[in-house]
Amino acid sequence: MRKQIFLQDLINRMSMEEKLGQLNLLTGAMDSTGMKNSGDLVPKIRNGTCGAVFNVFTPSATRTLQDVALESPMGIPLIFGYDVIHGHRTIYPIPLGLSCSWNLDLVRRCAQMAGAEAAADGLHWVYSPMVDISQDARWGRVAEGSGEDPWLGSKIAAAMVTGYQGASLAEDGSVVACVKHFALYGAPMGGRDYNTVDMSRGEMEETYFPPYRAAIEAGARTVMTSFNEIDGIPASANRWLLTEKLRTDWGFNGCVVTDYTAVTEMKSHGTSANDADAAKQSLDAGVDMDMVSEVFITELPQLLATGDVCETQINTAVMRVLELKWDLGLFENPYSHCNEEHARTRHLCKENRELSRLAALESVVLLKNESQLLPLTKQGSIAVIGPLADSRRDMLGCWVAAGDEMQACSAFEGICEAVGDRAVIHFAKGCDIQKENDSWLADAKIAASCADVVLLVLGESWQMNGEAASRTNIKLPKCQRKLAAEMLKTGKPCVLITMSGRPLDLSWEDKKFSSILHAWALGTEGGRALADIIFGTAAPIGKLTMGFPRHVGQLPMTYREKSTGRPYDASIQYSSKYLDAPNDALYPFGHGLTYGKFRYGKTVVSSSMMKLDETLTISSEITNLTQHPATETLQLYLRDLVASVSRPVKELRGYERVNLAPGETRLVSFIITSKDLSFIGRDLKPVIELGEFDAMIGPNSKELQAARFTLCC
Ligand code: NOJ
Repeated sequence: MRKQIFLQDLINRMSMEEKLGQLNLLTGAMDSTGMKNSGDLVPKIRNGTCGAVFNVFTPSATRTLQDVALESPMGIPLIFGYDVIHGHRTIYPIPLGLSCSWNLDLVRRCAQMAGAEAAADGLHWVYSPMVDISQDARWGRVAEGSGEDPWLGSKIAAAMVTGYQGASLAEDGSVVACVKHFALYGAPMGGRDYNTVDMSRGEMEETYFPPYRAAIEAGARTVMTSFNEIDGIPASANRWLLTEKLRTDWGFNGCVVTDYTAVTEMKSHGTSANDADAAKQSLDAGVDMDMVSEVFITELPQLLATGDVCETQINTAVMRVLELKWDLGLFENPYSHCNEEHARTRHLCKENRELSRLAALESVVLLKNESQLLPLTKQGSIAVIGPLADSRRDMLGCWVAAGDEMQACSAFEGICEAVGDRAVIHFAKGCDIQKENDSWLADAKIAASCADVVLLVLGESWQMNGEAASRTNIKLPKCQRKLAAEMLKTGKPCVLITMSGRPLDLSWEDKKFSSILHAWALGTEGGRALADIIFGTAAPIGKLTMGFPRHVGQLPMTYREKSTGRPYDASIQYSSKYLDAPNDALYPFGHGLTYGKFRYGKTVVSSSMMKLDETLTISSEITNLTQHPATETLQLYLRDLVASVSRPVKELRGYERVNLAPGETRLVSFIITSKDLSFIGRDLKPVIELGEFDAMIGPNSKELQAARFTLCC
């Protein structure tokens, strides 16, 4: 009540220019995350024509601008935003990597840590989580998301929002989350960033919308529009999306901000003749804040004068922005986040580094370990080779906010630290990341020939994934494969450690190497975590959240595929398949090994019939076949055999991580309700249909044992 009275009174006293100023989000110059810059912010802030700023941080830099804002006619404080994607100062694994932990509490704690570090740096608002589902590893931004699965992606989205926003925005260390990119940004044609998206409504509802919705249900206060079009209408002008779906259907009542210059880009889309047209379309669609285009501020006055937009629309948007500021406590204390002491004590503190190391540990995925080369013992001589082996910057990955590579630990550094003087370590770069240059090769050959074992660290540099970093070829660069071949020729046992921001085509490597460990970009403590795993201080437990294809030509692909009318059969010519590769992934969704072996029992259902209002228990026995404790994540998938709309051949509906003592057998059970069997029906609404289902449990989306049951009334 007090809030409404205060804010309404404020709006009543604001000039139109000041109102539009609240809708104007500008970029500072401390980072560059788009093509246009906003020039000198000070005069705009001083006259009240800028309501929020991003790409400015640190207590002193934000304090300086906040001082200016408080001198503006209405003295309305600024909100400061930033792309805090996987940590702010302490960097944790790229989101795609962290999602492989399948550990929601860890994900939440990482977001909370990032939020608290950001809040200690003058920031109120993080442009995260990115919840775009993607089935296309060519798209560089898969690095920023949580993979291909909408069910798991939804849980991760909610966990991140909870981590950032805490119980209340006014709480110390809480920041506003921004769900992005709304919507469907992860499905650009050909995997090319910013490209057109064309998708059925059914697929939107079933596969792409759930994580955005889950984030909103978890309380996310802001939503960022995507660059792409939906049904031919750019997201930032799409009223069906931003108002009917988001607000009316899903009940969102926070702020919608566009992506960087997305409003003015409608001219390039060819859906607006000019900026005025673009501004009107955006406001009409339900956008509240214009990021960097500055067309709300320049065009809306004239549109108001001609009656093309009305003041109520503007007041509504302004109220949403002001409510956010109020809820952040900014009207009470505009400097609450400008706290040097917090910055000193929170940034890169011991607990944050420890959390980052744990997150890195849980993100690593052991793809293959056929002759059990891993873990290594700390003895003899070990060659650490490869262009990424001693790169701190690449260990941090893309989008590192205020992360500092000088604070990071490379693979080589982590290995040296772990080994101390118990083994001799030889390092050689071997080759460049992408350029052909043989001058490093000879040293690598010498290092390998002197060693008992070779650790080869290959993959993508941080610039090879993320925004505007799509690739048509997702193999390791040619020069790195050449180095790999040379290392194999030495005949030394050789472990391949891959780093990347996307699933790679490792078909060749899979044939040549018996052990492959996938390390993404693990963040500040990456090298130490990797060493823990290499030497068995910790075992790998990550499970892929995006399958690794056999060939780029299979993309887009997902384990949630449909059967089709001509299901895959290698022996049938007219079945749905390729002439030159199988259909499935090389390393499927859910895959990830550990230093242990398990035996899965048969999948058992508590009853062959399940009534609509009943639960069903689905179980499997699992046995640890090794002589040491081991951890496994059991996964439950469901299939609806006959439905009014074709259903995927399997869909993740549960998982459980268990720690098993040596030789231990445990019964693991999942309880489902009929809600777990619902899907998007012909009328695009959730529906539950009676009939037969398969319940499947296993270590990944491929090696599953099924049991059938019938849903009845
Ligand atoms: C463009 C990116 O698409 C978006 O994710 C980011 O938040 C903004 N730039 C702001 O930097």
